[in-house]
Amino acid sequence: MKIVYFSLTGQTRRFVKKLALSSYEINPANPFEEIHEPYILIVPTYDSEVTEVVNDFIDYKSNRTNLKGVAGGGNRNFADLYIYTAKDIARDYQTPLLFDFEFNGTTEDVENFKKVVSEIDIKANN
Ligand SMILES: Cc1cc2nc3c(=O)[nH]c(=O)nc-3n(C[C@H](O)[C@H](O)[C@H](O)COP(=O)(O)O)c2cc1C
Repeated sequence: MKIVYFSLTGQTRRFVKKLALSSYEINPANPFEEIHEPYILIVPTYDSEVTEVVNDFIDYKSNRTNLKGVAGGGNRNFADLYIYTAKDIARDYQTPLLFDFEFNGTTEDVENFKKVVSEIDIKANN
């Protein structure tokens, strides 16, 4: 399972590097890249003007079909707005909200997220 992510200030990128899984970073200057394989999306939380490049990516060619779930990075100080970008994507694209973490994630977040990914891999192979 590939990890596709967006990162504005580098926190999500740091989380993804700690996973040590095959990954692709959405390029905000050109989000129109087809991935050709199943993936889990990880998005930080910002206003929709900032994250619309993620929608552009998902809407491109087969990327919508290959989207298997979404995880959200955020900051709990935002209270009800915590990880709303990932929640909006889960709702709009009818894909499961798999995981959430703050900033670049703790060691425990990394372990737990990797478990979520491997469970999806096992299901996909059965
Ligand atoms: C301007 C701004 C607005 C943000 N709004 C939210 C928010 O509404 N909800 C939330 O959970 N996190 C919010 N955050 C926190 C970021 O999503 C969080 O720090 C994330 O880890 C950043 O990831 P990145 O460095 O990969 O871009 C906001 C951060 C900034 C700078």
